[in-house]
Amino acid sequence: MQVVIFADAQAAGAYGAGLINDRLERGALNVLGVATGSSPVPLYQALAADPHPRLTGLTAFALDEYVGLPKEHPESYDSVIDRKVRRPLGLDPARVHVPDADPERLETAGERYEQRIAEAGGVDLQILGIGATGHIGFNEPTSSLASRTRLKTLAPATRADNARFFDSEDEVPVHCITQGIGTILDAGEVLLLAQGEQKARAVAQAVEGPISSMCPASALQLHRKATLLLDEAAASQLEYTDYYRFVHQNRPDWQRP
Ligand code: GLP
Repeated sequence: MQVVIFADAQAAGAYGAGLINDRLERGALNVLGVATGSSPVPLYQALAADPHPRLTGLTAFALDEYVGLPKEHPESYDSVIDRKVRRPLGLDPARVHVPDADPERLETAGERYEQRIAEAGGVDLQILGIGATGHIGFNEPTSSLASRTRLKTLAPATRADNARFFDSEDEVPVHCITQGIGTILDAGEVLLLAQGEQKARAVAQAVEGPISSMCPASALQLHRKATLLLDEAAASQLEYTDYYRFVHQNRPDWQRP
């Protein structure tokens, strides 16, 4: 895993946008995996501030969706992706996909979403945040490292974290549809952003801990091209920070976005 540490979230976002623009420039990015949550927002803002001509042609797939919220609910991930990603980046609504969490069709939701991703040619680059539990998407601890898009139950800690978007914790849905860890690992490249002290433990476990379903993000150690963009606080529990900085400073020109 490539770990890059920045002074703040804005610098990390700008670097991530530079990396994405580089892939767009080289014609290597057609399908972008997008994440909700606050962590990737500076990246979306940096992309929108100086849009690459190919940006609006992207197809996008969201990681997850709550079960039990109507699509129109302001906190459904359909609405969040529309507000934070689709509109600012100017993406075509017909090319922005979010898992279908309609209770009537839940049984086939995972399979249908996997099929859509496959029909689009797979995700070229997946943007990720990380939960304090170490979750990626909504793959909570003990998720199978081979999992595909499916129904999951949210961990109590995640429901408590996400209560800030609702009037009370009781309103946070209990279930979701999320891409699996296996689905995420199939992306050609992964870009994970994390900021703040509250992510430091999960980040340290993901990067330097054992590969374990107890920290779903640790599965990214198996990915060939995973980059973590961290601020100082999120990096504060890592042991090898001097090495990560040294690697970054000494990367060859062809590795610079
Ligand atoms: C949410 C999302 C994740 C996100 C994570 C962290 O519940 N399902 O995809 O990465 O929690 O959110 P934040 O970036 O706001 O800390």
